[in-house]
Amino acid sequence: MCGIFGFVGNTDRPTSVVVEGLKDLEYRGYDSWGVAVAAGGGVLSEKQTGKIGDAVSSLPPASASLGHTRWATHGAVTQQNAHPHLDCSGRLAVIHNGIVENHDAIRGRLQRHQFRSETDTEVVVHLLEEEMAGTAANGRSRLVTGLMSGFRQLEGLSAIAVLDGESGEIAAAKNGSPLVVGLSEEGSYLASDPVALLPHTRKLLFVEDGQAVSLDPSGTARVFEVGSGREIEPQVREVDWPVHDRTLGPFDHYMEKEINEQPAVLRRLAAEKSDDVSTLARMIEESSRVFITGCGTANNAGMAGQYLMSRIAGRQVTAVMASEMRLAGPLLDPTSLVIALSQSGETIDVLDAARLAQSRGARVAALTNSEGSSLYRLADHSILLDCGPERCVLATKTYTAKLALLVMTAYQLAGRAEEGVHAVVQGALLMEALLVEERDRGNIERLAERLADSDHIFVLGRDINYPLALEAALKIKEVSYIHAEGFASGELKHGVIALIEPGTPCIVLATEPSVLRETLAGTAEVRARGAFTVGLSPDPHPEFEAHLPMRGGGEAVLFEAAAAFQSLAYRLALRLERDPDKPRNLAKSVTVR
Ligand code: G6P
Repeated sequence: MCGIFGFVGNTDRPTSVVVEGLKDLEYRGYDSWGVAVAAGGGVLSEKQTGKIGDAVSSLPPASASLGHTRWATHGAVTQQNAHPHLDCSGRLAVIHNGIVENHDAIRGRLQRHQFRSETDTEVVVHLLEEEMAGTAANGRSRLVTGLMSGFRQLEGLSAIAVLDGESGEIAAAKNGSPLVVGLSEEGSYLASDPVALLPHTRKLLFVEDGQAVSLDPSGTARVFEVGSGREIEPQVREVDWPVHDRTLGPFDHYMEKEINEQPAVLRRLAAEKSDDVSTLARMIEESSRVFITGCGTANNAGMAGQYLMSRIAGRQVTAVMASEMRLAGPLLDPTSLVIALSQSGETIDVLDAARLAQSRGARVAALTNSEGSSLYRLADHSILLDCGPERCVLATKTYTAKLALLVMTAYQLAGRAEEGVHAVVQGALLMEALLVEERDRGNIERLAERLADSDHIFVLGRDINYPLALEAALKIKEVSYIHAEGFASGELKHGVIALIEPGTPCIVLATEPSVLRETLAGTAEVRARGAFTVGLSPDPHPEFEAHLPMRGGGEAVLFEAAAAFQSLAYRLALRLERDPDKPRNLAKSVTVR
């Protein structure tokens, strides 16, 4: 949520350094963007609404520059509300990720300052103006001293970065939202995600909550504890993480590319994750109670995990969405395990859930795609999804990667590890075949054409297909903006059936032979009320007016079904001329509560 990128060096560099960094961070928010540079003893800034796209900054080269992509919380999406925000004199520029909860109270104390936006962020720059005016330097720069003193007054979770145009310095402080410093011979960088730093350096310094940093142009940084103001030893890590190919290749969108990458991801997980899977299975075995948690797509993967552990391993694992983890809080103790799922490893609700678990002595296992993320660092055991970067805001390959690891873990627990690996490898083959068939025959494309004008789409499933139905509906609504809901097909007649009108599309996930009869009965009930029924099943049935054949069985078919509904969502977006990679209102990493 909001991307931050900054650079300080000994020589002037074009602002394209910052703009390119922001492009790597745009998944975090893309309402508007802005850049500030140190020039002539003050700051020059530029900000615009909309996505950064191919934008080029018109600001001059500078030795210190700072940029931001916004996901609006306080204040509409306007140029004035875009970051950076400047102090009254034009010396300081502030960018921010998070929420200043007490912004009203602070604004009240800063009446003599000139406010130009409706944001909570702007109070920070005027507060710093006050703090810097009144602060003795104490061996530290006036900027970092003033920043720490201002930061101590802020309530809520925030990462703040400030550029002082007079001294050409950048300092930052954080509590809750991610910040990483990159150190190199050209100078020091700052970003909300290491992914934007890897093209420049492998020397990283993860800023921890309650810390402030000041960036040095010589490629070093000083770290302070905000609470005490004390300087502490910087913990610099040299990472060997690969820089992945981030281009689109032959695809039109990242969503399409990432859907197509799934077979390769599954094969990699099947081949390389047996140690991690054994560790997770052992942690489950050793625990008296196990919860699985996440948000959005990760929550849907967790729900699928609950079914998989039950049906394959006879093991109770309770899925709780991360924002509702308080439900599990009183039940957690040192014999409990929480499995936290998060592509980004930065979703605040997931971090809160993990911290709650640890505060009760429980262990935390994490499944994440982001090495070095907050979740990765705090978990007792972290398993990397190894998907490569997922640039589309919608999760596709990281969803099926989580499913794959959970299938393998369930089989490992059941003492039948090879079957888990086999299911995932088969899943890869089935996905590949479905994607090839779609290119040749366009079955899903035709279905998208038929459904694109719908106001509502219902997705029904029973047993393991129920959590998949939830994910199918989430994908459709996130990317096409068609109202879509997933339901347990047996629950339908207890209320939702009132919404079925002639022509209402009902997609039925019917891949599970053991519940086929009941699933078809539910399909007949909606059909009798005029619904347009679409079956995803091995065989066609008279209850299905349209049919997408699913060729697999066991757990492998889950991956095939996922590729089908992901492709359907993508094609609906194209038909409706939505941007599949950056749907409105969403952000890939949600670091505010
Ligand atoms: C946001 C995204 C969703 C994602 C969820 C959890 O809401 O829009 O696509 O599923 O965050 O993200 P995480 O990084 O924790 O998996």
